Amino acid sequence: MYTFRDFYNNEVKLSFEDHPFSKSPKHVWVICKYNNKWLLTDHKERGLEFPGGNVEEGETPEQAAEREIREETGGIVKKLTYVGQYYVAGKGKHVIKNVYFASIQLLHKQKTYYETNGPVLLNDIPSNVMNNQLYSFIMKDHVLTYSLDFIKQRLAVD
Ligand code: GTP
Repeated sequence: MYTFRDFYNNEVKLSFEDHPFSKSPKHVWVICKYNNKWLLTDHKERGLEFPGGNVEEGETPEQAAEREIREETGGIVKKLTYVGQYYVAGKGKHVIKNVYFASIQLLHKQKTYYETNGPVLLNDIPSNVMNNQLYSFIMKDHVLTYSLDFIKQRLAVD
């Protein structure tokens, strides 16, 4: 279990165990790769981030992950793998989010990308992401660094 502060100084706990905080989390976040590139979305307010969002009523977290990727990037999932779970003690409320890794088989152009400007493909996640205004706050804590390390080492994704 890792404990650290996020961009807004909220406490975050991250674990790569099997659902340590909740069996039915209400949020998902998905590190995506397509054609050997990282697949992100450009959120209209927050900036560049891996896709994700809320689990809707009647959905499993895995279904939510696939839907959010499709809505925000047009990506169709080839394989979705559970990575870990994190807990954010926000002001007033807490958030529990599953982290997944998804390999994407194709990008389907969408009529709308909802609250985003659609897909962004990157060869590398820049090392200065924490100080980079183009990036969303959800990319600016150790959930990203530890999760990338995990998928490189344990899932052999480079
Ligand atoms: P809704 O999506 O409409 O429910 O909006 P909301 O603004 O209330 O957001 P949400 O429930 O997704 O998150 C509530 C708070 O939790 C946010 O304001 C953030 O401070 C925090 N939060 C949500 N997701 C993340 C995340 O991925 N990382 C970090 N560090 N904080 C998050």
